[in-house]
Amino acid sequence: MKDNIKITTTQSSRLSSVDFNNLSFGNIFSDHMLICNFKNSSWEIPQIVPYQPITLDPSSKIFHYGQSIFEGLKAYKDVDDNIFLFRPKDNAQRLNISAKRLAIPEIPEEFFLEGLKKLLAVDKDWIPNSPGSSLYIRPFIFASGQGFHASPADEYKFIIATSPSGSYFSGKVKVLIEETFSRSANGGVGFAKAGGNYAGQFFPTQLALKKGYDQVIWTDDTSHEYIEEAGAMNIFVRIKDTLITVPTNDRILDGITRKSILKIAEEEGISVEIRKISVSELVASSKAGTLREMFGAGTAAVVSPISTFGFRGIDYHIPEFDNTYADLLKNRITAIQTNKVEDNYGWRVKI
Ligand code: PLP
Ligand code: COI
Repeated sequence: MKDNIKITTTQSSRLSSVDFNNLSFGNIFSDHMLICNFKNSSWEIPQIVPYQPITLDPSSKIFHYGQSIFEGLKAYKDVDDNIFLFRPKDNAQRLNISAKRLAIPEIPEEFFLEGLKKLLAVDKDWIPNSPGSSLYIRPFIFASGQGFHASPADEYKFIIATSPSGSYFSGKVKVLIEETFSRSANGGVGFAKAGGNYAGQFFPTQLALKKGYDQVIWTDDTSHEYIEEAGAMNIFVRIKDTLITVPTNDRILDGITRKSILKIAEEEGISVEIRKISVSELVASSKAGTLREMFGAGTAAVVSPISTFGFRGIDYHIPEFDNTYADLLKNRITAIQTNKVEDNYGWRVKI
């Protein structure tokens, strides 16, 4: 398949206009993209073309019914300019888990994996190698098929666009525990990376931003007593010396960073628990001085320490200290991703 991918390269590269020493997150797009159409009941062979706008009919179902899913992964360069992906097969598989739930035709895994490798070979000079930077990769599928009938489209587009990026958050994160709005519900699409999951978060998150927080911590939709996720991150809590994260379910995205961190923590000899965490436990342990750390974990955010959580008008601060689990785990996972240490898990994929 990969030899059939047609490549059309750009006549006017934008590479020289990019300041690779001052990258923000997801605002600059590399010269090329991969595009693949689903038509007549099958996926056509992907093509690599110059990054460009796409034209869609106003009746395309993406606009009306939000049939759209995405993934997020990163490409890294080591000091010798070798290129690596981190667990890309997991992203390809998760895209198809999302596809199934949104009644979108599943994409052959090799279109994703081989197509991505080819795209990276074409745009290899867009992969940053400065510390904390990487090429953020955004594969996505949406309904391009037409009609106002509320039913799945008969045509789709799979695109991979990439963006040289720096960190997602500029510093420690201040979060607000949300008790009114829900990100997802039992039987819903919370476990899928569906575009609508994020649209639904924007308004409650805007309210939190107005109050001076950076992010919302979602609680379960029925009782609002248990924490679930923090925006686009899975959540970790350290009480005394135990690292705790909540079990995934159909409301929570099964994060690749989360499961990698759990594995690394276990091998580092950290005591780990996967169990529900109630807001009252957080408040009680904060008051008792046993809540030592909170952090979010995700591809874009890597490991982002939380400085404060707000709940019912009170801010609970997490004291700072050296040698945190967040630092240890961030350093370990980043070292594996950027080929600084041995990868004993088979996570790193050389391009
Ligand atoms: N939870 C949500 C809702 C997300 O959007 C993300 C980001 O991808 C994560 C968790 C973390 O997942 P991963 O580590 O696979 O990036
Ligand atoms: C990722 O971490 O890859 C995400 O998808 C987060 C994104 C919503 C910015």
